[in-house]
Amino acid sequence: MSLPTPKSDNLTWQDTSVDRHMREELNRHRGAVLWFTGLSGSGKSTLANAVSARLHRNGVHTYVLDGDNVRHGLNRDLGFSPEDRVENIRRIGEVANLFADSGCIVTTAFISPYGRERRLARDIAGGCFIEVYTCPSLEVCEKRDPKGLYKKARAGEIPEFTGISAPYEEPEAAEISIDTGELDVDQSVDKVIAYLQEQGFLSP
Ligand code: ADX
Repeated sequence: MSLPTPKSDNLTWQDTSVDRHMREELNRHRGAVLWFTGLSGSGKSTLANAVSARLHRNGVHTYVLDGDNVRHGLNRDLGFSPEDRVENIRRIGEVANLFADSGCIVTTAFISPYGRERRLARDIAGGCFIEVYTCPSLEVCEKRDPKGLYKKARAGEIPEFTGISAPYEEPEAAEISIDTGELDVDQSVDKVIAYLQEQGFLSP
């Protein structure tokens, strides 16, 4: 999948006086996109928030982009058809990249069910994209059902519900996989932070 062509030929890229490297030096850590993907109820939002909170306590600049929240604003014009989900993720991929470029470690929590849209988000962000697959079984997610949506989907009240009547393509090469049916929140956060440390994201 490729990006749409800009609608004008009369656009010129403007360089800025303060660049990403300078912001990262100032922050004393690198910018990154921690892209959580997984079924509804798999723990994406919980972990995106918990990782952000732990990093923040340790002086790291963070931001959380969450599916339900972004669909109240930037993406309120989008639904859950395959086309709309792809556009949802394309926009978030761009926004997440801007946050990373600003020197932030941004955690995103979107189902992002298609491999090609996640690849697109990865391409947009370049080397600072870290895919985190929250992978408890569908049974575990459905049992948790924190928003009561699986119940509604099983009753046929929500069309195209991921995992029930719409597909979820499992990541093939996520940097981090977390079975939140096995690990608790603190253990899961430890796993993500250990990865960031190993890969040098937490030093300038
Ligand atoms: S995505 O598939 O386009 O990545 P996104 O993460 O933005 O989805 O939104 C998912 C959230 O929207 C879910 O957590 C749930 O609260 C809500 N939702 C409403 N309808 C659906 C649906 N048909 N499928 C999945 N999630 C839905």
